[in-house]
Amino acid sequence: MVQPRIDLERVQPYRPGKPIEEVCRELGLKKVIKLASNENPLGTSPKAIKAIRQAIKEGYLYPDDTVYYLRRKLSEKFQIQEDCIITSNGSVELIYLACLAYLTPPQDELLVSKGSFVLAKIGSQVAGARCVEIPLKDYRHDLERILASITTNTKIIYLDNPINPLGTIVYKKELDEFMEKVPDNILVIIDEAYYEYIIEKKYPDSLRYLRKGKNVLILRSFSKIYGLAGLRIGYGFSKPEIIQTLHKVRYPFHVNRIAQIAAIAALDDVGFIKKSIRNNEKGKKYLYKELEKIKKVFFLETYGNFIFLNFPVDSQIIFEKLLKLGVITRTLKEYDFPNALRVTIGTPKENEYFIKCLNKVLEEIG
Ligand SMILES: Cc1ncc(COP(=O)(O)O)c(C=O)c1O
Repeated sequence: MVQPRIDLERVQPYRPGKPIEEVCRELGLKKVIKLASNENPLGTSPKAIKAIRQAIKEGYLYPDDTVYYLRRKLSEKFQIQEDCIITSNGSVELIYLACLAYLTPPQDELLVSKGSFVLAKIGSQVAGARCVEIPLKDYRHDLERILASITTNTKIIYLDNPINPLGTIVYKKELDEFMEKVPDNILVIIDEAYYEYIIEKKYPDSLRYLRKGKNVLILRSFSKIYGLAGLRIGYGFSKPEIIQTLHKVRYPFHVNRIAQIAAIAALDDVGFIKKSIRNNEKGKKYLYKELEKIKKVFFLETYGNFIFLNFPVDSQIIFEKLLKLGVITRTLKEYDFPNALRVTIGTPKENEYFIKCLNKVLEEIG
């Protein structure tokens, strides 16, 4: 037997939401709705689809390794220098790259809220370093406690804003104060995968921290509102020296050709973005109204395209019963919420069907 690195024993690989095809096959269902992975229920940006059709003909060519045109477009859109922008194979790749590049094993530490997106924990463990989990306060990041947990070994602080799977955010004033206090030998990763969905005025303008010279890595994704999850593309903003360091640990051609072209087109699809925001806001209102009527469920108001629900019973039971009715949701055991489900906000029809099924399931279990 070839012995893997001993410290990999603690790594629990990421558990993705169940794919539609698998559920149809296993349960013999014809129609299944997936509310498990926070994809855009309206599908892929139509402008991106058009661009993909063209780009597919050039699938035999390697992609542009510098991702020149997309970075230039992002640079113009956000008024950030091109050498402060890195693109990636999904934004999760950047979490891994930062862990590999900045955490010296075994002593270096990544601080993360217990309940945050689990990829930060996995990334730090894969790098052979330590993950220090800080309890949440009222389902939100406890920034004071995170600051108090900094040690001489702390190298990265990971903050998802909003937190996946909870949907809560830290506000501008809180994050401004926090960023002033973080020592400058620490990289703060601010993960804004749901950025485009957020209409809240008190949401931080994290690019300001970069402009002020702070050591931040701001993550954005094309998987959510742009509807390109299947193509795997994300991007990050940081200081040029941090971007250059991240490039050292990536593999060549990590952003595929089709994804680059689709992302450029998706950025221009203003109509689709607006429609997606409207759908999300409408869905939120409907779900809040319906969930308030159900005594057995506790839910959090969300800033993302998903809702955190907690029940008085193990959510695995509810998950399985919903699955049999053709609704895929997400259990949250690895986030230490054994009674919770995360549900993506769908189309109006999907939301209605979900509520109908949830009521039925809760009635069944009594
Ligand atoms: C907070 C957060 N970051 C990153 C991601 C992954 O994004 P990507 O598909 O760009 O890798 C997700 C997806 O669920 C997320 O919730």
